[in-house]
Amino acid sequence: MKKIIITISALLLITSSLLAGEVNVFSSRHYDSDVQLYKKFTSQTGIKVNVVSGKDKALEKRILEEGKDSKADLYITSDAGRLGAAQAKGMFQRSSSSILKKKIPSNFRTSYWYGIAKRARVIYYSPERTPASMLNGLRYEDLADPKYKGKVVIRQSNNVYNQSLVASLIQNNGSKKTAEWAKGLVGNFARPAKGNDRAQILAVAAGEADLAIANTYYLALMLSGKKGAEQKAAAQKVKPFFPNQNDRGTHMNISGGGVLKYAPNKANAIKLLEFLLTDEAQEHIVNNSYEYPMVEGVKANELIAQFGLNFKQDQKTKVSSYGKKQAEALKIMMQAGWQ
Ligand SMILES: [Fe+2]
Repeated sequence: MKKIIITISALLLITSSLLAGEVNVFSSRHYDSDVQLYKKFTSQTGIKVNVVSGKDKALEKRILEEGKDSKADLYITSDAGRLGAAQAKGMFQRSSSSILKKKIPSNFRTSYWYGIAKRARVIYYSPERTPASMLNGLRYEDLADPKYKGKVVIRQSNNVYNQSLVASLIQNNGSKKTAEWAKGLVGNFARPAKGNDRAQILAVAAGEADLAIANTYYLALMLSGKKGAEQKAAAQKVKPFFPNQNDRGTHMNISGGGVLKYAPNKANAIKLLEFLLTDEAQEHIVNNSYEYPMVEGVKANELIAQFGLNFKQDQKTKVSSYGKKQAEALKIMMQAGWQ
């Protein structure tokens, strides 16, 4: 009897997944937690999620090379600059969803791709050496001031987070001013640009620099202890400062996804995106990646919330401008000697 019931329930499961179908996700987000999230989606909808994870370049190459034969439905990655660049290569198709439109503020989505979570690119300092009052009113623009000579660290210009930041400066201040700014900033470097975002935070903790630019979630990741005791101790020595509070606000970026041009399962891809914007999924995401939730009402993880959630976010600069100005941003950085 038991065997029959098991067989029947297995058959039901197979039938329902055959009816519900599947969705093929290509993701460069390297979080095991995303897989748990997809499992939840499958148990709620019956839609099977097949994940291909890898580095952006490799995923993009495969999607473009396979063209019409590609089975990829949804491309999930971080940085609006990367999403915009993929869009420019014709990788996405337009998709629309009233749910996504309602939940995602207009500056964090386009008709081709949607923001799933937010991050801020902020300035880090050591409260021991630099009292917060000294930074009052600080803007990204001020980091080119000669008074910060030998004090600033940031990663290399080939990094998309930096390209998006510089793109936002071009968008707001124009090319000429941004080129001058980049030269000033490079002149203030405490060392040639190197390392990842966490390496910049470590440099401030170690006293190699006074100010570092890095994304918010890295500090929380280090504080969580997941990167080891040494990085946790270092993270405890620094604090984030949210720049440009008296004007447009702090530079914001996103993780996001878009439906691919030849997606065989477009409807399921949209369903998965909608699921990622549910409160349940948003909570799961922010508690694993330490990003900020896209959906209002969902709380950020305490490790990041402790630094304040009421800072002014740049909602004026559309994140879709990052991809559009990316090539120019890189050119400006290279010309300034930002390696
Ligand atoms: Fe990152």
